[in-house]
Amino acid sequence: MADNGPILITGAAGQLGAVGRTVTGLLLDRGLPVRAMVRHEDDRAETLRAAGAEVVVGDLLEPADVYRVVSGCRRVYFGMSVSAGYLEATVTMATVAREVGVNALVNMSQMTVSQMSIQNTTPSPQQRQHWLGEQALAWSGLPVVIIRPTVFLDGFFLPLTSPSVRDRSRIELPFGRGKTSPVSTADVARVVATVLAEPGPHLGRIYELTGPRSQDMDGVAREYSEALNREVTYVDIPPEEWEQGLKKLGLPEHLTHHLVTMAELNRAGRYDRMADGVERVTGRPAMGVREFVSLHPDEFGGRRS
Ligand SMILES: NC(=O)c1ccc[n+]([C@@H]2O[C@H](COP(=O)([O-])OP(=O)(O)OC[C@H]3O[C@@H](n4cnc5c(N)ncnc54)[C@H](OP(=O)(O)O)[C@@H]3O)[C@@H](O)[C@H]2O)c1
Repeated sequence: MADNGPILITGAAGQLGAVGRTVTGLLLDRGLPVRAMVRHEDDRAETLRAAGAEVVVGDLLEPADVYRVVSGCRRVYFGMSVSAGYLEATVTMATVAREVGVNALVNMSQMTVSQMSIQNTTPSPQQRQHWLGEQALAWSGLPVVIIRPTVFLDGFFLPLTSPSVRDRSRIELPFGRGKTSPVSTADVARVVATVLAEPGPHLGRIYELTGPRSQDMDGVAREYSEALNREVTYVDIPPEEWEQGLKKLGLPEHLTHHLVTMAELNRAGRYDRMADGVERVTGRPAMGVREFVSLHPDEFGGRRS
């Protein structure tokens, strides 16, 4: 089958630094045609268009929308925000991709899925949906590449630790003594873009992605301190207190439940993982915590000179 259509990127609007949006930029930089799917026509859509993407608006939970946006594309990145309809969207995408006949479907998942089985799932509704979504994609017979990153520096550590680091120079999380190896979405996006640019050697593979070091939160706090040139400490707060704080933020229940489970798994040492997917696929090692915080000093309250 000819492979000359645009590459479809779902969830392309995102926040600055989100995976779909970053992948769109990386593929355009390589001179590849990109169809960027967004949910709404807004400033983010306009920015994508100005960068050279063909922007299409649609809902990943609407089969007819998904058919319209996938038609004409041979390579697809499927990812969207953590949300209650994730499994439905995954199966809708798989159904449409089979109908249209795509040559590569790159599916965003999570590293926790590597440890899951019928007898051993997790209480996170998102993690279960990723696990089931991967099962459905395997049954589909589609040419799939699975991306399983660990927790994101951008999507978790930046929003959830920057207020307390800014105000009190403290990372306040209920992670106990558990070790973690967060990865930047810049690295995740580099992996996805590399695979989409030339999917052939990657089809059927699963890539686990972590940062370069698995360490406890005191170690993470030391990296923050080095990046900001001021002392940042870790405070292990009670899980109930953290959950109350998340509820005050008004996050959807699905997301809160997912985050609470992530913290539980962190405390239990389940995020103490190391994987070399970033370097294996892109040829460059993954960014560490210090480098990431150095790139975002203002969000964390500034770097002391
Ligand atoms: N955060 C982490 O630590 C972490 C770790 C490992 C894996 N992951 C996985 O990474 C993925 C999230 O990646 P991300 O942070 O780059 O995504 P994101 O920025 O949270 O979401 C991408 C886009 O999905 C769009 N979207 C949501 N529902 C949609 C729908 N029904 N139809 C069309 N578009 C829809 C959103 O549109 P709007 O902006 O218009 O709402 C958003 O722009 C999830 O699969 C998550 O499980 C996350």
